[in-house]
Amino acid sequence: VPDPANPLVAVLGGGQLGRMLGLAGIPMGLRFRFLDPTEAAPAAAVGELVVGGLGDDAALRAVTEGADAVTYEWEGVPAEGARLLEREGHAVRPSPRSLDVSQDRLAEKQLFEELGIGVPRFAPVEDRASLHRAVEEIGTPSVLKTRRGGYDGKGQVVIRERDQVDGAFDEVAEGGPLILEAFVPFVRELSVVAVRALDGEVRCWSVVENHHELGILRTTRAPAPQLDGVVEAQAERAVKLVLEELGHVGVLTLELFEIEGGILANEIAPRVHNSGHWTIEGAVTSQFENHLRAVLGWPLGSCDARGVSVMVNCIGVLPDPESVLHVPGAHLHRYGKEPRPARKVGHVTLTAPDEAELRSRLDALRSVMPDDVG
Ligand SMILES: Nc1ncnc2c1ncn2[C@@H]1O[C@H](COP(=O)(O)OP(=O)(O)O)[C@@H](O)[C@H]1O
Ligand SMILES: [Mg+2]
Repeated sequence: VPDPANPLVAVLGGGQLGRMLGLAGIPMGLRFRFLDPTEAAPAAAVGELVVGGLGDDAALRAVTEGADAVTYEWEGVPAEGARLLEREGHAVRPSPRSLDVSQDRLAEKQLFEELGIGVPRFAPVEDRASLHRAVEEIGTPSVLKTRRGGYDGKGQVVIRERDQVDGAFDEVAEGGPLILEAFVPFVRELSVVAVRALDGEVRCWSVVENHHELGILRTTRAPAPQLDGVVEAQAERAVKLVLEELGHVGVLTLELFEIEGGILANEIAPRVHNSGHWTIEGAVTSQFENHLRAVLGWPLGSCDARGVSVMVNCIGVLPDPESVLHVPGAHLHRYGKEPRPARKVGHVTLTAPDEAELRSRLDALRSVMPDDVG
């Protein structure tokens, strides 16, 4: 039933990102319906859940029926399905083109190149022989990745020596077409989360510093400490170019490598992102709220940071809640997922008025986390 006072947002995917979208939208009077293959989807806590496959047309029609906007919290959503919904008159935001590009590492890198954004050297790989040629061209160390379907470091392998080429191929080849990239000896990893409104306005949150463990994001520092103004401007310019080229509406994240005096683009995510979770408590408007404002055609809120923050992911294991909550400035998020190794089951965001206070709070948090925060 259409209800102009309480718009219905259909979200394809029902994981923790969907859950946090719901948590941000409910205060604004939004209603949510999620599509997820599992009954135990974390987003079920904040809206109606349709259990079904994201490639199932009947399920897509059921979840979007009567929706004021359709969006997604997972970039693996088949673009065909998103196009079908668009053809049937739905406001699908961001548009399926953002899915096409972000689902294919080769298309992503070609887009960066076309826009004049620096990228690591790369070459498409079709078969074993072309991998050998690509290694000749790009050299070692290099990283062999599946073009599609990789996440949290899955579907990729580093090639350090020539005699590892065949082994690397065997390791990832069954994941479909591949891409070889030069291994970047980066200074650190950065990302920039930005949002583009329906009227084209773009706003960026602070550029942040990310640390990964075994390919999985472990911590995000916001804003990135001691960030060079030139690097910051390059990052903001790059994400703006991508948003505009795609005509993207909603949040988009650009992952970057900081190198001496500049940046290289790694990948984009056409959605709210783990490196933007700190914005819930650490920014005037969170990535989740601004994503919803954008997809509904509403005005954006300020992305300004409030103080400094660090976000720590809980991977495979959750801390004792009371111990965490004793730490000043600590905000605990649990996703309602069954703990399993390498699975993101929650996060803690620490906020502080300044660097010194953040350091002392982080020491306190470290002592109560069940594993080494690094
Ligand atoms: N070309 C590269 N050079 C150096 N490190 C890389 C490179 N590609 C990936 N990595 C490391 O692996 C992590 C995951 O790779 P990424 O391409 O972002 O895939 P995904 O996040 O989809 O699993 C990166 O955040 C980075 O730490
Ligand atoms: Mg990544």
